[in-house]
Amino acid sequence: MAGPCLRSRRMNVFVTGGAGYIGSVCVEMLLDEGHNVTVYDNLSEGHEDAVDPRALFIHARISDRSNINETVQDAAPDAIIHFAANSLVGESMKNPGKYFRNNVSNSLKVLDAAVEAGVKKFIFSSTAATYGIPEEMPITEETPTAPINPYGESKLAMEKFMRWYHEIHDLEYVALRYFNAAGASERFGEHHRVETHLIPNILQVALGQKDNCQIFGDDYPTPDGTCVRDYIHVLDLASAHILALQEGISGVFNLGNGDGYSVKEVVDACRRITGKGIEAIQQPRRPGDPPRLVADADKARQVLGWEPEHSGLDNIVETAWRWHSAHPNGYAK
Ligand code: UFG
Repeated sequence: MAGPCLRSRRMNVFVTGGAGYIGSVCVEMLLDEGHNVTVYDNLSEGHEDAVDPRALFIHARISDRSNINETVQDAAPDAIIHFAANSLVGESMKNPGKYFRNNVSNSLKVLDAAVEAGVKKFIFSSTAATYGIPEEMPITEETPTAPINPYGESKLAMEKFMRWYHEIHDLEYVALRYFNAAGASERFGEHHRVETHLIPNILQVALGQKDNCQIFGDDYPTPDGTCVRDYIHVLDLASAHILALQEGISGVFNLGNGDGYSVKEVVDACRRITGKGIEAIQQPRRPGDPPRLVADADKARQVLGWEPEHSGLDNIVETAWRWHSAHPNGYAK
């Protein structure tokens, strides 16, 4: 798999959530580049078959403070990449406590474990949901943060904590604010037990698993009335994590392409690429959806040396379609 090919030494990397969608692809890329990887995941969201067999897999919870401490001590990693989290915006509006417990309180245990084990670098999965409904577009890291759901709030809280840990404990941190992760590698793809995301929902129709997909809202202030998002290939997200391992870099970075596609454009791309009709039903707006989210990712380009290479919408849909066609039930046995 093509990665960023950092000319760095072989590193020991500890990955929480390495059995999840973005985590699994990042672990694969780390291993392809010759790094040692320990995956720590409780499989509540992830899947055992999504863990690259070349990694050491530890099936455990980050909420277990003594276990995460001991495991990080034993692994003695150069860096921790912390993916493990809950990430459903809608669920966070119904059950905020789950998000603050898992994404903040339990993440703090991982952060503390990093400090106690003398780890130098902490890389964190953040989100465009930290911005809420921004007034300016495209969104830079200077755009004010104002989350409109507990999910975004939980990620923003961790960003703030990491800044203090950096200042006080000298822990380097990189918070990567993902826009809309999509696509698949040859081996690993997107399988959520509760699937809310647009592209996998459309592809379920193409696979004949559902009669139609839904378009949430057609009265937004966008060219065709449907929401516009910045879809970024999961391989490009993975390569940003590897670049973030470079010494001496801390801060917050947007990860997106800077191209926005509407829901209708995504449905059309899926029809074209799969060759299937794909019926789409117009529905009311989904609560909490900002009309338009498009990234300015210049900072990641300049500071990390990141360049998205896989992210045209067609390539995203093609790779997702290939993976879902080969794994119609995802990782389910
Ligand atoms: N959508 C539909 N039909 C569907 C699913 C989604 O029309 O069946 C629409 C949504 O309303 C939205 C767009 O497609 O306008 C994209 O929705 P997704 O659920 O795929 O993604 P979101 O933009 O809601 O959320 C993503 C991540 C979140 C992150 C957020 C940042 O999944 O974790 O981007 O803005 F917080």
